[in-house]
Amino acid sequence: MSPRKRILSGIQPSGTIHIGNYFGAVENWVRLMADYDCFFTIVDLHAITVTYDPKLLPQRVWDAALDNMAAGLDPARCTIFIQSHVPEHAELCWLLNCVTPLGELGRMTQFKEKSERERENVTAGLLNYPILQAADILIYKADAVPVGEDQAQHLEFTREVARRFNGRFGDYFPEPATLIGRGARVMGLDGDSKMSKSMDNFIGVTEEPDAIWEKLRPAKTDEARKRRTDPGSPDKCNIFGYHKLVTPEGELREIVAGCTGASIGCIDCKKILHRNLMKVLDPIRERRRDLALHPDRVREALDEGARKARAVARETLDGAKKLMGLL
Ligand code: TYM
Repeated sequence: MSPRKRILSGIQPSGTIHIGNYFGAVENWVRLMADYDCFFTIVDLHAITVTYDPKLLPQRVWDAALDNMAAGLDPARCTIFIQSHVPEHAELCWLLNCVTPLGELGRMTQFKEKSERERENVTAGLLNYPILQAADILIYKADAVPVGEDQAQHLEFTREVARRFNGRFGDYFPEPATLIGRGARVMGLDGDSKMSKSMDNFIGVTEEPDAIWEKLRPAKTDEARKRRTDPGSPDKCNIFGYHKLVTPEGELREIVAGCTGASIGCIDCKKILHRNLMKVLDPIRERRRDLALHPDRVREALDEGARKARAVARETLDGAKKLMGLL
């Protein structure tokens, strides 16, 4: 039997995960556990590349672990760990720093956006962020990386790093494929930008149903539909974008007919969305509650995950060092 292909993916510990993370990435991770040898990491070393509060970070990492496990990452079927618990990532990052031309880093979209926001605190860590991400992936010689569309550029960069290393020191790192999730780019509740924690336009996967309704009720719809009797265009409606993620085909067709024929209003449409979304999120919130009552299970999973990850990471790192001529 040929060994299973390997995937790695990562998520920032920025508090609760939102439905953009879920439909763009995590839902796919859960599915892929059946067929791949999976490594998932909470990237605390990436989180410290921007201004942050060291008192809040441990709780954020913990919340990310609980949310991801509640969303379906099963430590019996994947390796889940905290990035800084596998120090080999940082060591490989240094080696890769030394094969990466400086110019490319400043051109990365995420760097441009974040450095704009940071202004006073643009660190070398923020510039080198994509190299650490390349190290996260290459240290497991991952075949594929499941992510949302916003990470596509970082993955192209990772493949370039692999090619450059291989060209200089010999064929060593596979070039990982990008696997984009079903919700490639989930929009925020404002309808204008991608859903993200920093834009405060998100629905958290473990938020209470009432709190989610309070966010959905006033959310933007097709702006041309000013009155209940105006026909709407689902394709111009942000809410319809969410429906496509959670509403079954038949009901989706009814919504299109109801909206374009003005037989249902936006609030009715949002109520259907809320009901269907909660069918996905209710079990996650319940599992989250249960996990919080058993912190030992989570701690053990993370310890075991780091141990398994380190064994693989060490071997790859040693091979890379040897090729680079380090004694
Ligand atoms: P992060 O923490 O921003 O996001 C985690 C995953 O969620 C996806 N995602 C989205 N997908 C669709 N629509 C959205 N609105 C949305 N928001 C987030 C992201 O694409 C991602 O897959 N740099 C990475 C973390 C990272 C990583 C890695 C990822 C570090 N090392 C190695 C893959 C492999 C990040 O900031 O993701």
